[in-house]
This record gives sequence, structure tokens and C-alpha cells, in this order.
Amino acid sequence: MPRLVLPALAYAPSFVAALREGYSRDTLRPETPESIAAVEADLAGFVESQLAPPLTVTLPDGSQGPAVPFTTLWYVEGEDFLGSISIRHHLNENLEKVGGHVGYVVRPSARGRGYASAILAEGLDWIRANLPLKRVLLTVNQLNPASIRVIEKNGGVFTQAIPHLWRPGETALHYWIDL
Ligand SMILES: CC(C)(COP(=O)(O)OP(=O)(O)OC[C@H]1O[C@@H](n2cnc3c(N)ncnc32)[C@H](O)[C@@H]1OP(=O)(O)O)[C@@H](O)C(=O)NCCC(=O)NCCS
Repeated sequence: MPRLVLPALAYAPSFVAALREGYSRDTLRPETPESIAAVEADLAGFVESQLAPPLTVTLPDGSQGPAVPFTTLWYVEGEDFLGSISIRHHLNENLEKVGGHVGYVVRPSARGRGYASAILAEGLDWIRANLPLKRVLLTVNQLNPASIRVIEKNGGVFTQAIPHLWRPGETALHYWIDL
């Protein structure tokens, strides 16, 4: 059975294979051969960085901003990396608009098997057990019906549609899930 775990070196080779097939750590920015090579060049350092995220973040427009504390969990089966969830411990001005508390990605070869729905369900359990949050915000691009379905299956309640902060002309949908 796949499960959510903290990133660990055992899954790192499979993580790199996922990057090569099109898995991206950031839904707004695709990986490049250089970004993948950097991960592969220092697998242990990369795993460390996943366990202790940096205090600053490069925003989609290239500027630097303070990062809110967040936890990355990997969805794995055996030593196979299947996907990930990123849990922000609180919101800031940007995340209140786009990003929310929770983001998840499933590697392309593992999509369509219910994994994102399971990742979100298990991620919500992790939040209940580890963070003092009563409800979480999820934001999703209107053009992403699979993710909308995943959120709705996990109890997401639509609250508003706003212009996408980082993608002019596109719309971000806001959903809240009561914990
Ligand atoms: C969105 C994403 C996470 C979905 O992962 P997944 O593991 O394939 O999702 P699941 O298999 O759990 O479920 C997808 C659901 O959407 C449905 N779906 C898929 N494509 C759809 C479409 N075009 N229109 C409507 N529903 C669709 C599926 O039928 C399924 O619903 P069901 O369980 O009722 O059958 C994956 O495509 C991904 O990683 N995309 C890139 C990153 C991303 O967009 N992350 C979310 C950011 S908010």
C-alpha cells in the first residue's frame, strides 16, 4: 500500500526518474535539464533540503520572498516515489490568493489511479495530527478539472473565483476543507 512519508534517500533515485518523466516540484514552473541535474548531483543534500525547507522562496515572477514554514511529504510504495504533498503551516498574502495551505503532485506515469485523492486525504490527516488548523485553503486553476475533482472528493467547499496571481487571464478557484 502506498503511504505518505518524510523524504528519504531510499526514494531519491525514483524521485529523479519522476522528474525525468515530467513530475515538477512546482506546478507553475516546469523542471529543466539543469534543475534535474542539480538534484541528481547531490541526492543527500536534496533530501536534506526537503526536510528543512529554506526561509526564503523564489516567487513565480522571479522575486524573492519569505517562505512560510512548510512540510513536504512523499507518497511512496516500496522504494518507488509516486507523488508529493506540500503543507504550508500558515498562509501569507500570496498564499491567501494562490497556493493555499496544500499542494500536491502525482508523477505522470502514476496518474489516474486515485493517488492524488489518497494523498490529499492522508495529508489532511497529517494536518489534523500535527498542526493547529481548523480548516485549510486549497486553490486550483479553473483549467485543472482533475484537481478540482480531487478537492471536491475530499470535502472541499468552493468559496470564490479570483484572477490568477501568477497567470494573467486565468482564474484561481478557492476551496476550503473543514478539518
Ligand atoms: C491533478 C493531479 C494531482 C491528479 O492526480 P491523479 O492521481 O491522477 O488524481 P486521481 O486519480 O486521484 O483523481 C482524479 C479525479 O479527477 C477525475 N478527472 C481526471 N481528469 C478529468 C477531467 N479532464 N475532467 C473531469 N474529471 C477528471 C478523475 O476521473 C478522478 O475522479 P474519480 O476518482 O471520481 O474518477 C495530477 O494530474 C497532477 O499531478 N497534475 C499536475 C500538478 C497539479 O495540477 N496539482 C494540483 C494543483 S491544485
